[in-house]
Amino acid sequence: MIIAVDGPAAAGKGTIARALAQHFGFHFLDTGSLYRMVGLAALRAGGEPIAAEAAIAAAKSLDPTAFADSDLRNEQVAAAASIVAVIPEVRAALLELQRAFARQKPGAVLDGRDIGTVVCPDAHAKLFITASAEVRAKRRQLELGAEDYEAVLADIRARDERDSKRATAPLVAAKDAVVLDTSGMDIAAAVKASIDVVERRRSP
Ligand code: DC
Repeated sequence: MIIAVDGPAAAGKGTIARALAQHFGFHFLDTGSLYRMVGLAALRAGGEPIAAEAAIAAAKSLDPTAFADSDLRNEQVAAAASIVAVIPEVRAALLELQRAFARQKPGAVLDGRDIGTVVCPDAHAKLFITASAEVRAKRRQLELGAEDYEAVLADIRARDERDSKRATAPLVAAKDAVVLDTSGMDIAAAVKASIDVVERRRSP
């Protein structure tokens, strides 16, 4: 079984996807971390502005074990990930890796932006997790321990804009996705609602 969890930055999809994987005993892949690795590799190779060639080369020779998770979790790398994610050759290079992961038994949960639309259009259950930009910025500010709420909100809006407007695999809910707005929910409620969606798909 494949569960696709898509949505904008800081909507809660990572937390929900991890909880689903744990609940059902499935494998879990945070596909955003792949784009973050490519973004970081491109930054290290060429600095800014990011050269497309450096990003494509990094995506084609990606070694996920070469990156520490702590190096990937900052806003500079998040912005770089969103920039390299616009490049079609980068997306193509990461596609088969994600699909191979999704085929694992007994099942897999993948979270990202285009899992339900492009990577796994045949996923058995699709969730699109969203929340208002203001709520997401507040959550991200707490997570990062950042002082400047307005700056975090501006970063989130810039990333939303780039992720949704790009030509290849833009951020959009699949037609058969269940949309869950977590603006007014705590983690436990959002996780429970998501488990219910998947359970309904498992036993129609
Ligand atoms: O989920 P995240 O914030 O770690 O993702 C970082 C960036 O990577 C995001 O702004 C867009 C890109 N991304 C993507 O284009 N497709 C995915 N499946 C996952 C992430």
